[in-house]
Amino acid sequence: MKKIGILTSGGDCQALNPTMRSVVKAMENLFGDIEVYGFLEGYKGLIYGKYKKMKPMDFSGLLSKGGTVLGTSRVPFKEIDNPTEDGVEKVPAMIKTYKKLELDCLFVLGGNGSQKTANRLYNEGLNVIGLPKTIDNDIWGTDVTFGFQSAIDVATHAIDCIYTTAESHNRVFVIETMGHKVGWITLYAGIAGGADVILLPEIPYDMKKVYKAIDKRKKMGKNFAIIVVAEGAISKEIAKMSKKDRKAKLAERKYPSIAYEIANDIQANYPAAEIRVALPGHTQRGGNPDAYDRVLTSRFGAKAAELFKEKDFGKLVVIRNNEVTAIPMAESAGKLKYVDTECQLIQEAKTLGISFGD
Ligand code: F6P
Repeated sequence: MKKIGILTSGGDCQALNPTMRSVVKAMENLFGDIEVYGFLEGYKGLIYGKYKKMKPMDFSGLLSKGGTVLGTSRVPFKEIDNPTEDGVEKVPAMIKTYKKLELDCLFVLGGNGSQKTANRLYNEGLNVIGLPKTIDNDIWGTDVTFGFQSAIDVATHAIDCIYTTAESHNRVFVIETMGHKVGWITLYAGIAGGADVILLPEIPYDMKKVYKAIDKRKKMGKNFAIIVVAEGAISKEIAKMSKKDRKAKLAERKYPSIAYEIANDIQANYPAAEIRVALPGHTQRGGNPDAYDRVLTSRFGAKAAELFKEKDFGKLVVIRNNEVTAIPMAESAGKLKYVDTECQLIQEAKTLGISFGD
């Protein structure tokens, strides 16, 4: 009988449960009876030997369910060689749990940091297969991560809801979407929601350009505007600073987040205008997976089980040009997939008149 471990690590998303379901379903289909050890709260469960012994039936009904039945937590890769608060050496503890349970493989559903840890465990001799999770879509090597499309849907719905009220009240709305380092959600939801201005971490903005976009709308007779900003967007002025100065400047920011700062600047420039801020926040990670994610996770799970069958460990399941394949974890580990500022989608958006504040 095959014995597999599975864990969900890092920030959650809508498509973790369906991914676990498809991995287990495919494994059962290929190998018959299997034993599944579901580690609780991500790597913490592996470190402390906290798990649920599960059967394939326990994963039934998860295709359309958001969140994660195993729970999740963040165990930062940069601290992986530091002991836990109670003095446990993390990597040796994880290896010990894996060996004690005599696992044939560990499936890791996680984002960038979690995949780095997965790669470390593989290098320590464990059989590990990674599956790329994150609403941020920033894992290098895959065109799409699971969770991303569902997050875009939520963010787009949030913009749609704001759009009608912005129009009714002739207001300028600044909507902040998730993405500290990358602007994938902001770019796609911004376009899907009909934003007038889209501000991404990859394209430092100039407020004068934002005002220009608002003025342009006014000239068109539109007295409302939608500005969608990624939580990690930065001004041109801040982008020029050294990493240290930038950190210090951001630390002294007097607003709760970038959207409020931008709204304040707009208000100062248009004293008579009504400006409002809206933050969909963690709703972007919540709710149920959309149809795209359900199909994607079904494909990813099938591929993960095939990799297991071929004893092809140390791999990350990815999708490229709509083909599901796998790459060495080491190839992806430590790299972020940023929005290409010269990409066709941005050029097309600019042709439509959307401002990126640059
Ligand atoms: O990595 C996913 C993500 O949702 C980011 O987009 C966001 O910046 C961050 O997690 C929020 O983290 P937390 O859930 O710890 O507040």
